[in-house]
Amino acid sequence: MVKNSCAVEVKNLTKIYGKGDTAVTALKNASLKVMPGELVAILGPSGSGKSTLLTCIGLINEPTHGALLIDGVVVADEGWLTGIDLKQMRREKLGFIFQAHNLIPFLTAQENVMVAMEINGVTRSCAKKRSSQLLELLNLGHRAAHYPTSLSGGESQRVAIARALANYPKVILADEPTAALDTENGKNVMNLLKKLAVENNSAIMVVTHDQRMVEGFDRIYHVSDGRIVGDSELGEE
Ligand SMILES: Nc1ncnc2c1ncn2[C@@H]1O[C@H](COP(=O)(O)OP(=O)(O)OP(=O)(O)O)[C@@H](O)[C@H]1O
Ligand SMILES: [Mg+2]
Repeated sequence: MVKNSCAVEVKNLTKIYGKGDTAVTALKNASLKVMPGELVAILGPSGSGKSTLLTCIGLINEPTHGALLIDGVVVADEGWLTGIDLKQMRREKLGFIFQAHNLIPFLTAQENVMVAMEINGVTRSCAKKRSSQLLELLNLGHRAAHYPTSLSGGESQRVAIARALANYPKVILADEPTAALDTENGKNVMNLLKKLAVENNSAIMVVTHDQRMVEGFDRIYHVSDGRIVGDSELGEE
């Protein structure tokens, strides 16, 4: 079997929330492809369906119609495919960065990163080593033993990024990762994501309202009223 080489492939994806009179079609026939190492932004107004698209790709929101492939594997086709272990796929292939970074309050920065690896069966000593490297890379070595309550917003966000990267995910999904940050920290986070796309050959999809943050991205998808209304390739001018 020839493996599809896209990191993410979305084919005519439709998501309808609810039923009957209160049904909301949040995503309408959306299609896109993201290659390994590609850095993609999803831009659009509030309520246009960006988070819905990202959570469908993140395997936490079941598409109503259409197909979804992650790393060449069909995971949804008119709903989740039976026989696919979504949780395992999520743990092994995907890394999430959300605005609310959801760090575990009673674990230190380093333990928050380690736990992501340990649930994947990585030994404690390997998890410790990799989490130290990641925190260093994110200029957080000096905060490894701190608890989330004693970290700044930008520092917590970087811990969440370290955690999302811990298992070398094929696909990194970030929903408004810079919304809580000032411009400088926001740019730092984006630069880091760019670096990781190159170094790990990860596909990175970032939802943002902020056009200023998409400098250096490979492609931008514009979402409007549940539809992908256009995409533009960047970096050629
Ligand atoms: N669980 C849900 N049940 C019903 N409708 C929902 C649900 N989640 C989202 N919606 C609706 O689907 C549409 C798309 O929502 P979505 O959260 O994807 O938008 P968004 O582009 O991420 O917006 P924002 O920029 O404000 O985060 C909106 O009309 C929203 O009200
Ligand atoms: Mg959203």
